[in-house]
Amino acid sequence: MSSPASDDPLLRALGEVVGHGQVRTDPDLVAPHEVDWTGRWRGRARAVVRPADSTEVAGVLAVCAAHDAALVPQGGNTGLVGGSVPRAGEVVLSLTRLDHLGAVEVGTGTAAAGADPSGGGAVVVGAGATLAAVQRHARAAGLAYGVDLAARDTATIGGTIATDAGGLGVVRHGTTRAQVLGLEAVLADGTVLDRLHPPLAEGLGYDLRGLLVGSEGTLAVVTSARLRLVRPPSHVAVALIATDRVAAALEVQRVLAAAVGPLEASELLTRTGLELVTGAPGVRAPFTDPPPAALLVEVAGGAQVAAALTDAVAAAAAEVDGVRDAVIGAEAGDRAALWALREGHTERLAERGVAVKLDVVLPLATLAGFVEDLPGIVRAAGGADAEVVVFGHLGVGDLHCNVLGVPPAAVAGVEEAVLTAVVAAGGSPCGEHGVGVQKRGWVARVRGPAELAVLRALKGALDPAGRLNPGVLLPASLAGEQEGPSDHLVEHQEGERPA
Ligand code: FAD
Ligand code: MLT
Ligand code: ZN
Repeated sequence: MSSPASDDPLLRALGEVVGHGQVRTDPDLVAPHEVDWTGRWRGRARAVVRPADSTEVAGVLAVCAAHDAALVPQGGNTGLVGGSVPRAGEVVLSLTRLDHLGAVEVGTGTAAAGADPSGGGAVVVGAGATLAAVQRHARAAGLAYGVDLAARDTATIGGTIATDAGGLGVVRHGTTRAQVLGLEAVLADGTVLDRLHPPLAEGLGYDLRGLLVGSEGTLAVVTSARLRLVRPPSHVAVALIATDRVAAALEVQRVLAAAVGPLEASELLTRTGLELVTGAPGVRAPFTDPPPAALLVEVAGGAQVAAALTDAVAAAAAEVDGVRDAVIGAEAGDRAALWALREGHTERLAERGVAVKLDVVLPLATLAGFVEDLPGIVRAAGGADAEVVVFGHLGVGDLHCNVLGVPPAAVAGVEEAVLTAVVAAGGSPCGEHGVGVQKRGWVARVRGPAELAVLRALKGALDPAGRLNPGVLLPASLAGEQEGPSDHLVEHQEGERPA
């Protein structure tokens, strides 16, 4: 609903920039923007503003600066650390209308211009384009985009850049950072930074593109990006290998990477997660008994890739102690069924309630021990009846630790205990999901004083008034905010999420 008659001078001015119909205050239209995908974080928005292009985004930021109003940039609102929803009456800046898809440049440029000399390419897309739309667009030109997530139909390019999303192809292609060849972004005062990293400009000073990737909407609003595209493999095959412990899955991963690598994907599933996804109607369990740990790998090759993978899995089973069984997916339908087991985790968990989700990274040397210790750590921290579901991107050590059934009063203690154990094991408390509001206190604990001073200086230089996504990523002490509760855990909210 438009707000042409709004008494609020800010909203009237915003309406003049984007059209009054694109400044939404109707509670039914605003509500989905006020709660995150998990249902854990929610707050009130002053309005949801929906610009159509970067000029309008610049106008919105200039108006907010003039009215001293804070903003929360929002893409698909699939973030999992609470960074995409308002906390204290901010304006939600929805970028989904910036969904243009430029012409695909196929293998034309030099490496410096961004095209892959082995036959890939590049494309410029709007920040609001969904990952799935970009993937389809690349496929139509015979190419592929290296980032893929189960949230592909909703997550936007801007959101994946702002969080430096990893995903299912991360072991092969790296995180989003490795795909971003150029960026357009708007600063807090409305200044447009165009072609931040133009072709052939490597080495011309500070890497502003690198600075904005992963900045979670706290330094600038991403409006469009030039992305690297890759040549997709001609044939792929998938295997799901059941093992009796995470250490064995890690060992199988190592052996397969040496035999048939580079791996296109390498994902960990564990018993509780397998039970969850195979318990859904119509899902066929791949093994008679769900194993303690299973490794899902995808490999690329020629027409005989499935046979090569079958042989390599058999050799790994002979070499590695603890391999129980394996299923090979050669045909598209079988591959999809195996992938559905992995991708179904997040949805099935959400159906069970609001999980405490902890996305962390462990060195491969300590990862298996950490997973074994995790249920005990959770129990000792107050989650006596909690259920722990671990899965994740094993190839890069990124684990998703999900804890169901933690009493609200014990949530902070469980998070503290798990993340402390991660750091003690030499890991990082923040993985691909980013910092958000969930882990901003950990930034101050893990980064050194000199680094923290630089973070504060960067925020002060780009957003001196602290209007961009306040409460996210930077610890309160660095952002010049009062310390306060940042966790809006919604109690008794079984499975309720935005439509
Ligand atoms: P939002 O949730 O809207 O925003 C996320 C953050 O980015 C917020 O801080 C927001 O302020 C900021 N932001 C959004 N757009 C912009 C912009 N244009 N400019 C500046 N800041 C902006 N993540 C992974 O990394 N790997 C996975 O495999 C993965 N799988 C997922 C599977 C499911 C089922 C779900 C629900 C989530 C998954 N995620 C995963 C998390 C999520 O999809 C990613 O974090 C994604 O990058 C968020 O994109 P979005 O458009 O939804 O961003
Ligand atoms: C995934 O890898 O599936 C995700 O990052 C989502 C999640 O952690 O639930
Ligand atoms: Zn993930």
